[in-house]
Amino acid sequence: MARRIRVGTSWKMNKTRAEAAAWCDALLAAPRIDGVDLFVMPPFTALALVADRLRPAGVAVGAQDVHWEDAGAWTGAISALQAKDCGATMAEIGHSERRRWFGETDETVAAKTAAALRHGLTPLVCVGETAAERDAGAADAVLDRQARAALAAGPAGVALAYEPVWAIGVGAASADPAYARARIAELRETAARVGAAAPVLYGGSVDEATCAAFIADAGADGVFVGRAALDARRFHEIARLCAAAAAV
Ligand code: 13P
Repeated sequence: MARRIRVGTSWKMNKTRAEAAAWCDALLAAPRIDGVDLFVMPPFTALALVADRLRPAGVAVGAQDVHWEDAGAWTGAISALQAKDCGATMAEIGHSERRRWFGETDETVAAKTAAALRHGLTPLVCVGETAAERDAGAADAVLDRQARAALAAGPAGVALAYEPVWAIGVGAASADPAYARARIAELRETAARVGAAAPVLYGGSVDEATCAAFIADAGADGVFVGRAALDARRFHEIARLCAAAAAV
């Protein structure tokens, strides 16, 4: 039987509400793909709009971050409770851009993961080594540390995204699938050691040319796509290619 895989995207800080609506309409107009669970992480400003349009079609919607508290004097922050109120069923936590630019730490990632679980949101926790950590031979130690912090919040219900920092964004190239395969296997071992069976997705410069290899060769449970999925038709095509790779 074909593996069931996940294909998702974070729009990061992109799209007005009108652009978000157009993206949803384009996705909904495309043929349904069997064997794939789709999810979208829009910016908070489009969360309710996207959830209203996509959830009836079975596409999950998540926030790109949540705070560890439910409410209070935390200017600029959004809680898991508020994200859920907008229709989110997932929460992305610990993306390397948040770790780099917004002071995210293993400790805040753990607290935010706990908050997401508390409200029934599936946390998708991003882990990944920098180029310097990779070159120092420390990739697996970094991944182990980051994943343990997240899984300590609750071994059940957490999903991981392996996103090597050096493979993300404009000018970067995706990881070699064999390299990703080894890291994903290590992450699965880390999860198993704490009694978790966390799915592990791959993210970092995934596009139409590279996506299938992460499913077929790297053994990922799905892919998490950034800039290549800002166009809904490209997102759909990536999902189609991943489903085909999982079916063989
Ligand atoms: P890119 O696909 O644009 O490299 O971004 C990946 C990512 O950060 C997904 O979370």
